[in-house]
Amino acid sequence: MEQVTTQIPTPSEYLWWQQGVIYQIYPRSYQDSNGDGIGDLKGIISRLDYLQWLGIDCVWLSPVFLSPMADFGYDISDYCAIHPLFGSMDDFDELLQQVHDRGMKLLLDLVPNHTSDQHPWFLESKSSRDSPKRNWYLWQDAREDGSVPNNWLSVFGGRAWEWDENTGQYYYHAFLKEQPDLNWRNPEVQKAMLDVMRFWLDKGVDGFRVDVMWHMIKDLALRDNPPSPESKFEEKDLIYDHYIPVYSTDQPEVHEIVSMMRKLTDEYENRVLVGEIYLPIHKLVTYYGTDNKGAHLPFNFQLLNLPWDAAQIATAIDEYEGALPAGGWPNWVLGNHDKPRISSRVGRSQAKIAALMLLTLRGTPTIYYGDEIGMRDVPIPINEIVDPQGLNMPELNVSRDPARTPMQWSGEINAGFSMHKPWLRLPYNSARVNVVTQKANPYSILSFYRKLLTLRKENPALNVGKYTPVYSDQQLISYIREDENSRFLIILNLTHRPAYFKPRRESYRGLVLLGTEIERTGMQVGDIITLSGDEGLLIRLAD
Ligand code: GLC
Repeated sequence: MEQVTTQIPTPSEYLWWQQGVIYQIYPRSYQDSNGDGIGDLKGIISRLDYLQWLGIDCVWLSPVFLSPMADFGYDISDYCAIHPLFGSMDDFDELLQQVHDRGMKLLLDLVPNHTSDQHPWFLESKSSRDSPKRNWYLWQDAREDGSVPNNWLSVFGGRAWEWDENTGQYYYHAFLKEQPDLNWRNPEVQKAMLDVMRFWLDKGVDGFRVDVMWHMIKDLALRDNPPSPESKFEEKDLIYDHYIPVYSTDQPEVHEIVSMMRKLTDEYENRVLVGEIYLPIHKLVTYYGTDNKGAHLPFNFQLLNLPWDAAQIATAIDEYEGALPAGGWPNWVLGNHDKPRISSRVGRSQAKIAALMLLTLRGTPTIYYGDEIGMRDVPIPINEIVDPQGLNMPELNVSRDPARTPMQWSGEINAGFSMHKPWLRLPYNSARVNVVTQKANPYSILSFYRKLLTLRKENPALNVGKYTPVYSDQQLISYIREDENSRFLIILNLTHRPAYFKPRRESYRGLVLLGTEIERTGMQVGDIITLSGDEGLLIRLAD
């Protein structure tokens, strides 16, 4: 399948967030500095040297703000205060300074769709129907028979409407009842949240990852969502996926909100707006906004969701490249704190393939902490589950705890994460699978990640170069990345069986710059290239 190439601007036009690599830290689990079993800002500061050594350009922190922690920080009660569990504002300032001193960037997690039910805004809103903040949230009367205003469900299971006895109305919460949704049609809400953004931008943060961006505006008429044709649902289940959220998410007016956020971001130099959006490609790309005045990077989660199948992934890459608006910058995500880890999803044997793909596709990659050492989902005994998604829907096995376990640093007590029992358990093998052992091992996945990140930096073709798909079949994906100085061929075998790369028209000769099996590095290849099962190659092509 030889195909068309993608036109891209000249290198001088590239910005840091186009060339760089984002690394997501889940702060509770990165490094504990004060021995309470929970990671904190000082802990992160102590690990910045590691991130620099690894070759990371930008750190995105999951929420560190004041929060009752019903959803581990995604329920915020003060957007401009640091939770004492993570440290103080001084610690934050120190972190920002140290990140910048190392030439790196820092993104914060902005959670504008909902607050905590303990946020003063909500407390005031629920105090009376006449409260000046009543209209800051989504309050509705019951239907005549006393039932909920419509059939919308919470992502975490059950109805999305919570009855307030005191004022006799329901309020809407897309997630937990402790996370009431703000009314983003209200200009006062817009102003309040833009002020929050301004507060952090003034401090010098380099941008935001915006939580559930596609949820922010809901249908004004609150129409019922249609049932999904795919699910044989039973009314009693009240499972989110049983309906298509056509009226509760992705409303046209959301783009006005995104562009307001973007406008504010653009008042500052060199900042970036990333959007968390789980939508099919043709809808996702609308979040770049008219004339690319929406999110700089609407997160592309295809690699998190697609079956690990060469033909399907090759098609998805092409579909994405084809759907991007002119000037819209692509991005790829392999893991986050909401989804199973890549090593658990595709298996250890494919983890390096996934890394090679993530770091050589065109666009900004996001690495989830711990994936660089091949951390797997840790089995959490039922009585230790703390994630509300897992607790609310026990029969579905959807707890996110397994992907949020402490970073495995060393063979020391609690893998060097904490002197105290960690908030989530470590795997039994953490004395073997950790940063220290892998740093010392040239065959480790960590060494592979580091080498790859170095090669990306040394060869702009690999991060901003042109992308051309070359050949794919049931086993292989391959593509070329090139600029005026160099040409690279990447071949990925997504199966465990040997495979043959045999492009139909052209023949490709070159030198293996990096292979998932190190022994192959430095070898000449050409014509039909034979790959082992689970093998991936990064080849520098001879002209
Ligand atoms: C986002 C976050 C997730 C959180 C949810 C509600 O999807 O990534 O962790 O539970 O929003 O804020």
